[in-house]
Amino acid sequence: MGIDFDSDLGKLSRLMAESIAGTTRRNEILNEMQIQAGDVIIDIGCGAGYLLPHLAKAVGSSGTIYGLDPSKAQLEQASQRCSEFAIIKLIERSADDSELQSDCCNSVTSTQALEYIPDVDLALDEITRVLKPGGAFVNVSILWDHFKFYGADEKLNEKVHDAFKAHCNHQMLPMELPGKLERRGFRNIKDKSLAFVITRRDGNSPARYTEAIMANFALTQGMSEEEVSDWKSQLEKAEQQGRFGFSSFPVLTSAFLN
Ligand SMILES: C[S@@+](CC[C@H](N)C(=O)[O-])C[C@H]1O[C@@H](n2cnc3c(N)ncnc32)[C@H](O)[C@@H]1O
Repeated sequence: MGIDFDSDLGKLSRLMAESIAGTTRRNEILNEMQIQAGDVIIDIGCGAGYLLPHLAKAVGSSGTIYGLDPSKAQLEQASQRCSEFAIIKLIERSADDSELQSDCCNSVTSTQALEYIPDVDLALDEITRVLKPGGAFVNVSILWDHFKFYGADEKLNEKVHDAFKAHCNHQMLPMELPGKLERRGFRNIKDKSLAFVITRRDGNSPARYTEAIMANFALTQGMSEEEVSDWKSQLEKAEQQGRFGFSSFPVLTSAFLN
């Protein structure tokens, strides 16, 4: 099955973006970017555009913000979110072919998008091409091997997580990014953990909707309704008994082009 950000996964990424984990990520990204008034910035895989208004406010009316994403559904949401900012331009294209001029961006950022791109090297070539010398690249990708629920029967839990691997092309991209960036002439390459743990599934907890999306995804990968519903009830029981957990390990990678 292909990765379809027009439906379930798109919804998950919007809920994630709205959660406290999403807010923390955006703050960390903005802190790393060293934005100046008038800058031109591109957000690769901008999704529903949660970061774009923050970037627009930081560069002011003389800057330009590009939000690039191949998903029409995500860009429609971004367009609504960004309607009051004339300097935000949405591009419905893939990261490996932005059609922007070379050396046109002061910085490039991307959140949880590069790991979905089959040929991530082509996307990084394109990022390097559009970035001005000295410009910053700030990326957040998840270490998917550490994206884990806890509390259900171990074997069943493993099966659901194994099924979810098919949703993403590069499970451990943050481990591979430093070398890829170094080979493209980036320097000052730094990693920062944005890991978090949740032990309840209440209200705005990303654990609750992540669980629902993973359950649906497991069904598309051939797991039975019975297994998936067992997994969910086991997690619910674990929560009631105070032995439930969900952990995610996003990594912020920042670098400057030579
Ligand atoms: C998990 S969402 C993240 C969205 C947004 N960056 C955020 O943090 O809310 C992943 C995004 O990557 C986009 N994506 C998938 N393939 C892509 C590609 N080849 N080039 C650029 N973006 C892509 C999807 O359409 C989706 O909007």
